[in-house]
Amino acid sequence: MAVARRLLGAAVVFTVCLIPALTVDRSNFKTCDQSSFCQRQRRLQPGLSSYRAALGSAKLSSDKLEVQLIDDKNQASLLLEVYGLVGNMTRIKINEINPLKPRYEVPDVLVGTPLPTNLQVTGQDDNTLELSLGETGHKLLVTGTPFRLDILSGQDLVLSVNSRGLLHFEHLRERKDTDTEKKDVPAETDEENPEEVESDKEEESKKPEVDEPGMWDETFKTHTDSKPNGPSSVGLDFSLPGFENVYGIPEHADNMKLRTTEGTDPYRLYNLDVFQYELYNTMALYGSVPLLLAHNVKRTLGIFWLNAAETWVDISSNIAGKTLFGKMLQYMQGGGETPQTDVRWMSESGIIDVFLLLGPSPFDIFKQYASLTGTQALPPYFSLGYHQCRWNYNDEEDVRNVDAGFDEYDLPYDVIWLDIEHADGKRYFTWDPHKFPNPRDMLSGLKEKRRKMVAIVDPHIKIDSGYRVHNEIRAQNLYIKTKDGSDYEGWCWPGSAAYPDFTNPEMRKWWASMFSYDKYEGSMDNLFVWNDMNEPSVFNGPEVTMHKDALHWGGWEHRDVHNLYGLYVQRATTEGLIQRSGGKERPFVLTRAFFAGSQRYGAVWTGDNAAEWDHLKISIPMCLSLSLVGISFCGADVGGFFKSPETELLVRWYQAGAYQPFFRAHAHLDTPRREPWLHGDDNMAVIRDVLRQRYTLLPFWYTLFYKALSEGEPVMRPLWVEFPSDVSTFAMDSQYMLGSALLVRPVTEAKARGVQVYLPGDGEVWYDVHSYQRYEAPQTFYLPVTMNSIPVYQRGGSIIPRKDRPRRTSDCMQDDPFTLYVALNLQGEARGELFLDDGHSFNYEQNEFLFREFNYSQGKLTASSLDPSGVFKTPSWIERIVIIGATKPSSITLSLQGGSESSLEFEYDQSTSVITVRKPGVNIASDFTVSLR
Ligand code: NOJ
Repeated sequence: MAVARRLLGAAVVFTVCLIPALTVDRSNFKTCDQSSFCQRQRRLQPGLSSYRAALGSAKLSSDKLEVQLIDDKNQASLLLEVYGLVGNMTRIKINEINPLKPRYEVPDVLVGTPLPTNLQVTGQDDNTLELSLGETGHKLLVTGTPFRLDILSGQDLVLSVNSRGLLHFEHLRERKDTDTEKKDVPAETDEENPEEVESDKEEESKKPEVDEPGMWDETFKTHTDSKPNGPSSVGLDFSLPGFENVYGIPEHADNMKLRTTEGTDPYRLYNLDVFQYELYNTMALYGSVPLLLAHNVKRTLGIFWLNAAETWVDISSNIAGKTLFGKMLQYMQGGGETPQTDVRWMSESGIIDVFLLLGPSPFDIFKQYASLTGTQALPPYFSLGYHQCRWNYNDEEDVRNVDAGFDEYDLPYDVIWLDIEHADGKRYFTWDPHKFPNPRDMLSGLKEKRRKMVAIVDPHIKIDSGYRVHNEIRAQNLYIKTKDGSDYEGWCWPGSAAYPDFTNPEMRKWWASMFSYDKYEGSMDNLFVWNDMNEPSVFNGPEVTMHKDALHWGGWEHRDVHNLYGLYVQRATTEGLIQRSGGKERPFVLTRAFFAGSQRYGAVWTGDNAAEWDHLKISIPMCLSLSLVGISFCGADVGGFFKSPETELLVRWYQAGAYQPFFRAHAHLDTPRREPWLHGDDNMAVIRDVLRQRYTLLPFWYTLFYKALSEGEPVMRPLWVEFPSDVSTFAMDSQYMLGSALLVRPVTEAKARGVQVYLPGDGEVWYDVHSYQRYEAPQTFYLPVTMNSIPVYQRGGSIIPRKDRPRRTSDCMQDDPFTLYVALNLQGEARGELFLDDGHSFNYEQNEFLFREFNYSQGKLTASSLDPSGVFKTPSWIERIVIIGATKPSSITLSLQGGSESSLEFEYDQSTSVITVRKPGVNIASDFTVSLR
């Protein structure tokens, strides 16, 4: 059905009928029970580990501890390596000592070799080794029998590894041809009789290893995975005492706070093209980042499981299911257990390579993870503007008309997008000769208006001997192979297609070279790229993706590299865009599939959502989960991809989308047109206002992205990141922060007359950015709303630079003047930052930037440089300073460095306590002081 539907789209069959109720066809995707390794791993019940660490074999070198792990039932011993890492991290690697074949270790995700600290043995007894983990005072206890690891901070147990005994490492083996029909019957838990269960487990562990169905081949629907290497999965458990809240491991269409998975499937990480995905469940989606965060009022932790194979994550909690009242009672009575979350990771192949990020603050975690996988690439400024997309803008005239519509109706926008129909028969890097005969003229037309275009380039290549791209990849032998060594063929948009092996550096190099202007004919420097379907999507493959026994460069199976494929596609494209400019210009590439580290290559979006209110709502936690794992440049299709949004939903979606990092409207081929002017003047006026709000805040967004680049700070953040001890924020999905200064609570409910808003922070104040109304925090209140409302609050204590003259494009606003919005806290203070550069090149790396700081204290606003190495010339000046929450001064003066002093005009609005200082007139690069008396 999914395939049929896609082929309808692929054949450009226009149909007016809309898709009825949207639900995923679950039968296309495996449950844990249908994934034989997940079933085998999950069958192992918590108990004493069958592994012992042979402490006598322990070897301590300057940077790591090595210990053998022995499972007496199976002969293959494992090697445990523990590294203390600079920056309060610990790395644990477990691999077979002598595997039959090398096992895959994920390359290209870490930005370098993490720096080790000096490990020291600080204590020892027969069954325990105590080590100090370096500068932070954390201790590691290695227990011999049964094997477990515990990390302590002072007397506090922070985290334990294998304390539930779920280390399960399927060693590579020769196939035995007997016993394949015999199946181990899972040991049933017998809650009534724990002793019996224990002895059953002991029995179980003594059983010899037997092959069982699913180990050497596995059939799902019509597809058989040949599994020539047999069982190879790895699993391990982590216990987090004191933690009730865990986050991360995107991508799932679920709440930000992860649920416990007892009685359901684990969270699945396996990049998949899920047609009409369902909300609020643990099914896999297009991308995977195997980083989980845990947070409580005292600390934040991270577990980064570096494995690119199919992975499942089970989460359990000792307090799950307890009512709030039950928890309170327990708390008041002072008894009961400490809350604890247990996390269990299970991957189909590879090794165990896990980084424990020990925080202790949320920002420490972001820094630690960034030090491993890199930070968000600094987007070109234009890409923070508004993007207009649909599948498809049909031809050059269509593009011209839509583009003109934005001018006619005075709506700012930066980028128009072309989907797959623009290419000649889905042959990417080409243009349909009838619909797009003069792409350069089209691009030049956009360029004159300082606008850009994005065209789609998917990684499936039409098998067609007349198509140069196909011929060249085939001739260089750079396609992924089947298990039998022929080029892997699958079905996708162009019909029969082959898949470039992006794990091969040669392939990436060739792909990158395709973006040079002479090879990508018709392209220009204002054309950027969208990589879709890069899970990879294979319509006729198992679970709509590639066969796991397909072969990649180096002889690795697709099984090993699956979740990395999309990252490599985006990486090669990004490198191509950089190269085409001779290394000067920053790229913009949107990807659907991603992995840890994808933040280095561009933006992601949440794929094929639907025009439904719940999809609008879930765009917030989905992007928050991505933000927590380093991917800040996230957005959801504004309006919803499938189905046609009612006008109210579309308008609300624009309002929400304008306050999410990547802001693009997109729609399915079958849906009616929905450009902003097609919904009546009143609605268009609301959308215009939304777009203008976005554009006035671009300097703020850009500065946040600079902080994402330089510090690894998420642009969009859960409230708990800013208010880590406020438990009422820990599961909040309806509102979030942009940086530390703006709190956004978009209206995501149909026919809303009002929304609940929570403003956090003991002793803090907030100001409604539209009315300047002041609120003392913490408080929850009901805010009446109209169709115009986007509840956004500026935090007292912050300064936000804006450009308040919205124009046609972000580029047209480049030299415009700034307004500083100074929101005072209860101490009458405020602080803010501004990053600026040319917005498009890498010159900022050569110090061509400004990083300014604004500080307000005791009636004085001072502007200075936060990084004097940055020098950038701009004509932009400060045209206004708005001081919110202030008393009326009698005079205001401006003094520049060097002594000149002048008095400034101002107005004071008694009703809002806002001072508007007129025309300070100083260049944004100057140091100055504005004094209020
Ligand atoms: C699937 C993508 O998710 C969607 O955004 C796009 O329009 C279609 N592919 C066609 O390219």
